[in-house]
Amino acid sequence: MNTNNYDKEQSHKDESRQSIQIRSPLDDSVIGEVLALSKEDVNSAIQLAKETFATWRNVPLNERAEVLYKAANLLLEEADRLTVLLMMEVGKDKKSAHSEITRTADFIRFTADTAKSIHGESIQGDTFSGFNKEKFAVVTREPVGVVLAISPFNYPINLATSKIAPALVAGNTVVFKPATTGSLCGIELVKVFEAAGLPKGVLNIVTGRGSEIGDYVVTHPDINFINFTGSTEVGSGISEKAHMVPLLMELGGKDAAIVLKDADLAFAAKNIIAGAFSYSGQRCTAVKRILVVNEVADRLIAYLKEEIQKLEVGNPLEKQVDVVPLISTKAADYVWDLIEDAKAKGAKLIYGGTREGNLIFPTLFDYVTTDMRVAWEEPFGPVLPILRVNNADEAVDLANQSEYGLQSSVFTENLSDAFHIASRLEVGTVQVNNKTERGPDHFPFLGVKKSGIGTQGIRYSIEAMTRVKATVINLSH
Ligand code: NAP
Ligand code: G3P
Repeated sequence: MNTNNYDKEQSHKDESRQSIQIRSPLDDSVIGEVLALSKEDVNSAIQLAKETFATWRNVPLNERAEVLYKAANLLLEEADRLTVLLMMEVGKDKKSAHSEITRTADFIRFTADTAKSIHGESIQGDTFSGFNKEKFAVVTREPVGVVLAISPFNYPINLATSKIAPALVAGNTVVFKPATTGSLCGIELVKVFEAAGLPKGVLNIVTGRGSEIGDYVVTHPDINFINFTGSTEVGSGISEKAHMVPLLMELGGKDAAIVLKDADLAFAAKNIIAGAFSYSGQRCTAVKRILVVNEVADRLIAYLKEEIQKLEVGNPLEKQVDVVPLISTKAADYVWDLIEDAKAKGAKLIYGGTREGNLIFPTLFDYVTTDMRVAWEEPFGPVLPILRVNNADEAVDLANQSEYGLQSSVFTENLSDAFHIASRLEVGTVQVNNKTERGPDHFPFLGVKKSGIGTQGIRYSIEAMTRVKATVINLSH
C-alpha cells in the first residue's frame, strides 16, 4: 500500500483515516491505496510548507538546482518501474509512458539550468525625465511562498513536475495535490525529489478526492499561489473561490486543425490522426476538430481513412497501442454520448463508432454541423469531427467561435497565409504544419479564453511563481 509522506507521528490516526483504492483503467485491478487526508492533515501539510519556506528560500540557488539535477538522474534510474506504474495507473501505452518519464527528467534539468540564467536588472533614474543618476533601482526576483500545485490524471509525472520543479528552484515550497487517479505516480515523484536531497516539508503531497478537500485547500489563507491543470469546469470553480491569490491555469481545449487548399494533404492527415488519437485523445492539446476547405475535403478524408486504419487499438499491457481504454467509465460514457448525438443529428460516420467497455474505437465523422455537440465540446477521447468550410476566413471564424483557445494547427504551403491566419486565431499557440502539442517544454504554453490563465513553459513558469522586488537607492542622501 502506498502511503503519503505525511509525518509518521500522525500514524496513530491512521486507523481513523479513510483510504482510496486506486484501480487500473486497464483491468480494474486494485494497484494501490492512498490516504484520503482530512482537512486537519491538509492544514498540517500547508503549515509545514509555510514554516519551511523561510529556510528553503535562503538556500543558495545553485544548491536548489543541484537537488533538481539529482532528481532528474534518479527519475531516469526509476524509469522502467515508473513506466509500468504509469501504464497501470492511467492506462497509457508503454512508449508514451516511458517518454513521459524521460521528458520529465529533461524538463527538470532544463528548469535548473534556466533558473540560473534568470537575473534581475538595475534601472537608472535619469532615464526618466525629472530624475537624475542619484536614484537607481536594483530589481530582483523573489519566491512567492507556498505554491499549491494541482495536477490532472493524464500526465501524472510530467504535469506535476511542470509545476513542482519551477516552483522549487525559484525558492518556493509546494503543497502538491495529484489527481486521485495518478496519486500513486505522484507519491513516487515526491519520493524521487526527497531522495535527491529535498529537505522535509519543502514538497508536501496531499492525497484525497478534489471534490472533498479541494475547496479547503484552494481557499486556505496560507496558500500564496495556485498552479492548476485540469478541466475548465474545475478550474473556473477554483478561480471563483480563491481570494487574492495569483493563479496559473491550464484548462480544457478544442484544438482545431485548419486545412487549406494548398496543404500537403498526406502530411496533414498523418499529423492530424497522430495528434487526435495518441493516448486516445486524452491530451489537452489533442486535435479535437478539423476545419477543411471544401475543395480538398474529399481528398483529405481519403488520406485520413488510410491513417486511422493504421492505429493500433487495445490493451497496452498486451502490445504497443495508440488507442487505449479511457480513464473511466464516466469518461467513456461522455465520449459515447457525443458520438450518439452526432449520429442522431446526421453526421456521416467515416470510421469507428464502436465501443468495447471503456475502449472506444477511433471515430471519425464527416459533415459535422454546428448543432452537434461534438463540434464544440471537449471529448477527451478518440472522436474527431470534420467541419467543412468554404475558405480560410470561414475556418478562422469557426475556430474562434469556440469557448476554448489553447492551440490550433494550420496546414498550408504558404507561410505568409499561415502567419496572417495565426495572427487572427484566438489561441495561445498556432502550430504551422504540425499537430497541436505542448512540447518542447521550454516553449511558452498557454490557453486563452476558457483554456487557461497565465503562461507555462519553463522560464515562464519560474517567472510566474516569483515576484519582482525593487530596491531603490537614493545616493543624494
Ligand atoms: P479535473 O477533473 O479537472 O481534475 C484536475 C485536478 O483537479 C485533479 O487533481 C482533481 O482531483 C482536482 N480537483 C477536482 N475537483 C477539485 C476542486 N473542487 N478543487 C480543487 N481541485 C479539484 O481534470 P482531469 O480529468 O484530471 O484532466 C482532464 C482535463 O484536464 C481535461 O479537460 C483536459 O483538457 C484538462 N487538461 C488540460 C491541460 C492543459 O495543459 N491545458 C493538460 C492536461 C489536462 P481528483 O482527481 O481527486 O478529482
Ligand atoms: O495534455 C497535457 C499536455 O501537456 C500535452 O502535452 O506534449 O502531449 O501535447 P503534449
